[in-house]
Amino acid sequence: MPGGKRFGPDPAIAAGGGTKYRVTRYPLVARDMFHLPKRKRTMAVKALEDLFHDMLKDIYYAERKILKALPKMAKGAQNPKLKAAFEKHRDETEGQLERLQQVFEIFGKRAVGRTCPAIDGIIEEGEEILDEFKGSPALDAGLLAAAQAVEHYEMARYGTLKTWATMLGLNDAVKLLDETLQQEGKTDHELSALAQASVNATALKKAA
Ligand SMILES: [Fe+2]
Ligand SMILES: [Fe+2]
Repeated sequence: MPGGKRFGPDPAIAAGGGTKYRVTRYPLVARDMFHLPKRKRTMAVKALEDLFHDMLKDIYYAERKILKALPKMAKGAQNPKLKAAFEKHRDETEGQLERLQQVFEIFGKRAVGRTCPAIDGIIEEGEEILDEFKGSPALDAGLLAAAQAVEHYEMARYGTLKTWATMLGLNDAVKLLDETLQQEGKTDHELSALAQASVNATALKKAA
């Protein structure tokens, strides 16, 4: 019946092949574009929660590493103001870890870290500077630069976590993450001021 063809199901869909093509084509494209594992592509909200949780574990691991690295950097620094800046930020990092534990609690998960190769690499570079520039007037400038790489990494992470927490409606977590984000930014700013005021000029001097 000609009318039936016009208003009924598309013959290609009714035959099966068209239906398969239309339903599966777009999800496959989306999965390939974002390289998401199969288990993470079913619901957008679930995927964002997973990303948030993974990044939270990343930064928790990172802060614990930083807590251990800062005393070594403070010990190695020659400029008393730089030494004091590292010591002060070590104390602040303890508070940041406590805030992260609260964020885990708000999110309903246990506070655990996950190895973060990015922070491992940044800290390793700082340790190399400590070794290779020992006794050099340029040591402090190198340490300060390494510390700023850490701060910028943290700012990137906390900025993202804050945005995702906002999207997930975790308002108390947003406040905690923002508090740390501001603290990292202030530290970075203070390090820049110290570099410009004295540390970089000292690095220009020739080693004795
Ligand atoms: Fe931190
Ligand atoms: Fe920091």
